Amino acid sequence: MTKTIRTSVCIIGSGPGGLLLSQLLAGQGIETVLIDRQDEAHIEGRIRAGVLEQGTVDALEEAGVAERLHREGLQHDGFELAFDGDRHRIDLQALTGCSVTVYGQTEVTRDLFASRHQQAQQFFFNAQDVRPVSLKSDRPEVHFVCDGRPYIVSCDFVAGCDGFHGVSRQAIPQDVLRTFERVYPFGWLGILVDRPPASHELIYANHARGFALASMRSETRSRYYVQCGVGDTVDDWSDERFWEEFAARLGPDAARGLQTGPSFEKSIAPLRSFVAEPMRYGRLFLAGDAAHIVPPTGAKGLNLAVADVRLLARALSEHYTNHNDHYIETYSETVLRRVWKVERFSWQLSNLMHQFPENTAFEKRMQRAEFDYLCSSEAASRTIAENYVGLPLE
Ligand code: APR
Ligand code: PHB
Repeated sequence: MTKTIRTSVCIIGSGPGGLLLSQLLAGQGIETVLIDRQDEAHIEGRIRAGVLEQGTVDALEEAGVAERLHREGLQHDGFELAFDGDRHRIDLQALTGCSVTVYGQTEVTRDLFASRHQQAQQFFFNAQDVRPVSLKSDRPEVHFVCDGRPYIVSCDFVAGCDGFHGVSRQAIPQDVLRTFERVYPFGWLGILVDRPPASHELIYANHARGFALASMRSETRSRYYVQCGVGDTVDDWSDERFWEEFAARLGPDAARGLQTGPSFEKSIAPLRSFVAEPMRYGRLFLAGDAAHIVPPTGAKGLNLAVADVRLLARALSEHYTNHNDHYIETYSETVLRRVWKVERFSWQLSNLMHQFPENTAFEKRMQRAEFDYLCSSEAASRTIAENYVGLPLE
């Protein structure tokens, strides 16, 4: 017996994007239902990046979930780029007047879940066969099965926040959808280790042996990455091999502060740039990884999802509160303008900081010349800084 539920906005995906959208809409008195194919523990357990733009912090404050972030987050006023051991600090505060906050995406997701539960949000976890239908009508539906029972959510709008592997983007007809992609010829191997960070700020390093990133989760827990082969598995990377490569790529000066130890999390992620257009189809709106992927080099994945959600929450709130559909009608073109700028920055920084197998000696020299230019030009450093702290919402 199918159970039919009526709501205003049905959100597919309960990652940070879907959770934040639900939270922001609830603040405007707009009811939502959240559907996810995983359970809460799985969603919270995903290890992701941890650098928040000021705009993301602002959104979490507006959502009323920034209390722990302000207590535990680490404010960073700059970060370093290193090339074969030479280091250059990008002084975010001096160049832009802004900072970033280091606070794991896992923590953001936990804080959002806690608040949604406090407000008795309706969730469906472990949902199967999720299908958004009637998207061109004014009564779209989302069909799914949960605990063996069929459900239909009848709603005004569907938000596709179901990530790169979700179903929402697939619901846009192939003759409407346009996709753009660049797959990078390497991956990132990441570890977590309970040792103080090698440096108090992040260090992105390009070395002849490959890229490395020294990041952190707190003053006692570090998050480190090395560029690895696309076919590599974690079994190819013992801790010993990791530490040897990581220290060499960081360079002797930066590695001086490195405290090695046993990793308790180790995983490999591929790198891609991806954009799907349009981000709206009838009553379906895409936000976050459902519509775009950025290489993690610029720390933009979560921040871009949050920016999409802020624009989508505004569009839906204006519809319900002021019967104004201007932001609904312009959502896709507005959000994509910013998506492409962030894709550009993430692609540019990835091209600058990694060893590409196909690069000629000339192209390697171009990478070094770009680094040397950054070191000698405040204007060049400012372009990196203003993208890193986050572009204006529109
Ligand atoms: N039906 C229901 N839920 C689904 C489906 C589906 N068919 N497919 C995927 N999902 C769920 C996933 O289980 C996940 O919880 O959608 C959610 C998508 O969450 P994210 O992938 O985290 O995407 P988003 O919310 O846009 O956040 C983007 O999260 O993964 C990181 O690097 C990414 O930092 C970026 C941020
Ligand atoms: C992280 O801390 O996981 C991190 C930080 C910066 C990045 C990518 C990942 O660019």
